[in-house]
This record gives sequence, C-alpha cells and structure tokens, in this order.
Amino acid sequence: SSSSQASPAGFLQCVTKANISVFEQGEDLFNTQLHKYMRNPKFLANTTERPLYVVMPVNAHHVQVAVRCGSLNGVPIRVRSSGHDYEGLSYRSVHTEGFAMLDMSELRAVVVDNQTSTAWVESGATLGELYYAISKASSLLGFPAGVCPTVGVGGHFSGGGFGKMMRKHGLAIDNIIDAELVDVNGTLLNKTTMGDDVFWAIRGGGGGSFGVVLKWQVRLVTVPATVSVFKVSASNSQGAAVHAVTKWQKVAPALPDELYIRALVQNDMAVFRAVFLGTCDTLLPLVNNCTVEDLPKRTTSKIDSSHGFKATTDYVRRPIRREVWAKIFNKQSKWVRDMYAFMSPYVSSNSMSRGAYINCRDLDLGPNWGPKYFKGNYQRLTKAKAEIDPHNYFRNEQSISLPKGAS
Ligand code: FDA
Repeated sequence: SSSSQASPAGFLQCVTKANISVFEQGEDLFNTQLHKYMRNPKFLANTTERPLYVVMPVNAHHVQVAVRCGSLNGVPIRVRSSGHDYEGLSYRSVHTEGFAMLDMSELRAVVVDNQTSTAWVESGATLGELYYAISKASSLLGFPAGVCPTVGVGGHFSGGGFGKMMRKHGLAIDNIIDAELVDVNGTLLNKTTMGDDVFWAIRGGGGGSFGVVLKWQVRLVTVPATVSVFKVSASNSQGAAVHAVTKWQKVAPALPDELYIRALVQNDMAVFRAVFLGTCDTLLPLVNNCTVEDLPKRTTSKIDSSHGFKATTDYVRRPIRREVWAKIFNKQSKWVRDMYAFMSPYVSSNSMSRGAYINCRDLDLGPNWGPKYFKGNYQRLTKAKAEIDPHNYFRNEQSISLPKGAS
C-alpha cells in the first residue's frame, strides 16, 4: 500500500540512529550476513531478488524500533530465524520489492524452568539449541518438535512443527503456552494483549504474516532417561521395499504412541527410522510381534544436501495399495512435479482440494494455496490478519491476506 512513498534511505537512517547493526546491499559484509542462513543453495544465484538491508537486532527493543522504522518509511520487513524456508521467502522475494530482512540469529536464548517444566525460547534459536538446553537442565524433559537440529524455532513454530514425538505429544504448537509478538506499530504483545485470535493464528498460520515473534513459552514433556532408536532399510530389488511400506502403513498407526516409525522412500530404497520412548527391553517384544521380519537387511544410504532442492507435500488419508507403491518406486527417478501429479488420486484428493504443509512452503501450489495449507481455517486466519496487521505490512508471496473487502 505504501510502496509509492517508500523511503529506503529514511529506513537506513532510522535504524542507524538507534545503533542497530545494518548491512546494505553492495557493502562487503552484506553477502556474508545474507548467506549465513540461506539454507537452500539455489537462492545463492545472482538472479535472486535480495533484501536491500540485513538488519541484526540483538534485543527486543531493536526489533521494535526496526519495525517502526520500516512501517514509517514504507519499507516492508521479512523475518528470518534460521532460513529453512523451502522457497527462501524469509530472505528473498519473487517479485521486485525493496524490503529489509530482520535476521533473528542473535536472539537465541533458551531459559528452562525445571520447577514448572516450561521454557522460554527466542525465535533465533535452532531446534538443536533448544533440545540441548533442555537436556542440560534435565534428562527427563524434552520437547516435541522437528527432526533437523538446524531448523529455526521462529519459522518452525509459526507453521506447526512435526517431529518424532508427535504420536505421543502432538506438534510443537500443541505445547506453546505463551509468546511475545512485535506488531506493525512496534508494540510488544503477549498472549493476553494480542488476544485469542492472533495467539491462535501465530501457532500454525505460518510465519511472516502477523508480526515478529520474539520468543515462545513452551510446555516441556516428560521423557524416559533412556530411549531407543533404530534404522532399517529395505531395497526394492525383490520388491521388499514395496512390501515393507505397504505393511508399515497398517502397522505404524496401530503401534503404541511411544513408538514412532518414519518411512523415507528414496530411489529404490525404503528407509525406516524409529524412536521408541523406552528401553530396548520393552521395544523388542513389540517389534518382534509385528514388523521386524518384514523389514529386510540393513544398508546405509547417504543423502546429499549440498545442492539446491525443490520439495512439495500432501497428506495420505487412506493406506496406499501395494500396486501403487510399486509405481511410486518407479517414479522416484522422475522430477518432483511429475510425482506430485501422479500422487493425486492417493492423497487428500478428489472432491477436496489438495493439502500441503505450510512449513514445506511450495510456490507451485498456485493462487489457491490458502485452503490447501489451512482448509476451512483460512478464513479465520484472514480475520486474525485484519486484526493485527490491517494494512498488510508483513507480507510475502504466501502470507495470509486480508479478508475480501478489507482495506
Ligand atoms: P525461516 O527463517 O526461513 O522462516 C520461515 C518463515 O517463517 C518465513 O516466512 C519467515 O519470514 C517466517 N519467520 C521466521 N521467523 C519468524 C519470526 N520470528 N516471526 C515471524 N515470522 C517468522 N518441518 C517439520 O515440521 N519437521 C521437520 O522435521 C522438519 N525438518 C526440516 C529439515 C530441513 C533440512 C528443512 C530445510 C526444513 C525442515 N522442516 C521441518 C521445515 C521447517 O519447519 C520450516 O522450513 C520452517 O519454517 C523453518 O523455520 P526457520 O526459522 O529455519 O526458517
């Protein structure tokens, strides 16, 4: 709305005056700071639309001032916590739009309270830093969030947070009890002052739409001091992988909630990784009863993550038939977009619009991405957006829009 009056120079002067570190495009350290948490290497390309400035707040006040400087000068802000956005929307834009990037990586404190089994974690912390701090405070507490330790709390919590304890303890957002949010005016709000709609929206409505979440208070969950993990791989040379994943669909949901088995279908392999919240003595009788003989010999496989990537998601709501799994294995070598089309009858499907997970951001979902990520909740998210950011200051290519007819 304000791009016609945008004043990048005014923004720079405003943050500099407040002694906030800022790096300008063209300056030596600009690329160093920008590239630090650019997790999808394909956006290192020169053609990537970069921010005009990288702003590095070191305290809450800096974040408030930077947002005020941005909104007063018509310069939009994109927030980056740890830069894992699949489409890079925390640090690049698809269309030419001068914006500043707020890099949260210096705001990464984790404070665990053993007495109440809760913790406050700042958005710039990674999941690994959160798990580490909890483990130092207690060997009997944990937090149910994602698998990869470098993922940022800021983006991850904003979009849900699936992980290996989800069968037992739900998603990360099911265990968030308070948060601090800087709104478009630079005001610091908590759960009570932001109100129920906004507190609901920031827990799953995706990052980048409502303001800057500074920190989150989480409820920790009780975990046994010893857990068991295993990994089994099945190659499909004699159809073993197809057999194993067909069976896994039936077995995995019927197992006790303490046992989580994830299946990765890669090339001609099915790789099963499991976590059991208990010891081997309890685990072995469970798996001996149902899965172990179905999952052939172990091999190791390596994932090369040094290249850029493109990913997409959907939800499988009914078990997939064996013949289809066989076709899926054949499809693996093809491009992800072919695979996405092929999967259509077997996922969210038919009368329903296809589904997707906001934390696996996918610009290929097209203009109707809202209901794909959020189903019937999308309308409610637009209302929360209107409440907290009525002029759509916080925006990206897939941020929540204002309700139709709003300003
Ligand atoms: P990033 O900083 O790129 O932010 C993502 C989005 O949130 C952007 O729109 C950004 O503007 C916004 N945002 C960031 N910080 C914010 C803040 N403080 N306030 C408001 N908005 C903010 N998911 C999962 O559920 N389980 C898993 O196991 C994994 N594993 C995994 C592994 C790898 C290698 C990748 C690349 C990704 C995953 N993910 C995942 C997906 C991950 O949860 C998702 O990409 C998160 O949004 C990443 O959060 P970051 O803070 O790192 O991203």
